[in-house]
Amino acid sequence: MYRPFYSLSKEPFGKDIKPQEHFPSQSFKEALARLKYLVDTRGFGAILGESGSGKTYALRTMAESLNPALYKTIYLPMSSGTTMDMYRNLVTGLGEEPRYRKSDLFRQIQKAVEHFFYEKRVTPVFILDEMHLAKPEFLLDLAMIFNFSMDSKNPFVVIIAGLPFLSTRLKLNHIQPLAQRIIVHYKMEPLDKPEVFQYINHRLKLAGATTEVFSQEALEAIASHSAGWPRLVNNLASTSLLLGAQLKKNPIDAEVVRLASMETNL
Ligand SMILES: Nc1ncnc2c1ncn2[C@@H]1O[C@H](COP(=O)(O)OP(=O)(O)O)[C@@H](O)[C@H]1O
Ligand SMILES: [Mg+2]
Repeated sequence: MYRPFYSLSKEPFGKDIKPQEHFPSQSFKEALARLKYLVDTRGFGAILGESGSGKTYALRTMAESLNPALYKTIYLPMSSGTTMDMYRNLVTGLGEEPRYRKSDLFRQIQKAVEHFFYEKRVTPVFILDEMHLAKPEFLLDLAMIFNFSMDSKNPFVVIIAGLPFLSTRLKLNHIQPLAQRIIVHYKMEPLDKPEVFQYINHRLKLAGATTEVFSQEALEAIASHSAGWPRLVNNLASTSLLLGAQLKKNPIDAEVVRLASMETNL
């Protein structure tokens, strides 16, 4: 148990970090600014980034900042299920009982979106995560489902999130109808070196740290092994804490980080 050894009141690098506890990295701030613009403008947006770059966390932070009287957030990660399951989940997310046929599901989604926007004055905000796993047909169908041509303003926000290669897929010829409608496109960047140091200190402080836990060399080692991706920083820092306590190293030095990086395969 490393917490008492480093006088920490909780695990500093866990997944559960509240939106209000975010570290305001450059990329995080930019992602949120684009998302805010998208929500104000409505329509389609794409947030891409490597695994562990902070996409889902940024999206969650954005979603929690929305006034629930004006926005209805529907978060749907691409499941391992079928494309039909996704349409059903969209319908369920809008509070409806899914019908059987695909064409009925599409109509249900459209009707429900219109009902929210025009009658309840609530904008539905769909967050479609892990979309690099989606079949091309699904991406194509999205453009069709969310085509409310009777009105010039879109009655919805759809955010497509996924790994960077999704961008190549969106450029494919037959997905053009969707790609052309994406008005906000943002790719998450890694933390730069000073940000990695600040990020680690930020999270340690949230966990009640009062003394130096990582030496400067240890911080440098985490920054270079992680390349600045937040999830990798978390994994490496957590493993370093475990090993450091076992080896009675306080503060943690670069050697502990090196051992931790071998253990976490970094
Ligand atoms: N701005 C941030 N502030 C605090 N923690 C962050 C931030 N960005 C990312 N993280 C941390 O990194 C982890 C991985 O981010 P996540 O959003 O799950 O990545 P992705 O969805 O891109 O794979 C999160 O669980 C969170 O602990
Ligand atoms: Mg994610």
